[in-house]
Amino acid sequence: MNELRDLYREVILDHNRSPRNFGEIDGADRVVEGVNPLCGDRLTLYLKLDENRIDDIKFKGSGCAISMASSSLMTERVKGATVEESLSLFEKVHEMLAGQGNAIDELDKLAALSGVREFPTRVKCASLAWHALKSALSGTDDRVSTE
Ligand code: FES
Repeated sequence: MNELRDLYREVILDHNRSPRNFGEIDGADRVVEGVNPLCGDRLTLYLKLDENRIDDIKFKGSGCAISMASSSLMTERVKGATVEESLSLFEKVHEMLAGQGNAIDELDKLAALSGVREFPTRVKCASLAWHALKSALSGTDDRVSTE
């Protein structure tokens, strides 16, 4: 259990230190701003679609280590995935963060985010990027909030 916790910690630190897909996309098909009013942190998510597939995805912004790592892990995972696959992954991560069942395998890198479950304010940090993703894919809002 301790080994797993160390592994999760290492994943978070690594993605916070070197966030993947950090930056902007010129001519993005969707741009969504995510805000966490609790701390004032915000991120902007850029998405380029190739028909039903996420051709490119990037994010910009500043936030705590959890929010940066979550954004990085999320973009890394859904780049190249279909809209359906990405929305289904959103649901699984949502369940994991809500502490419902084992939607994500404990050895999956995304499980590194599960450590926030006991801390409601940190759950918002981890879910910010995912809500932005869902909104970008469904084309509903160009601004999402964790509140
Ligand atoms: Fe602001 Fe985590 S403290 S997103």
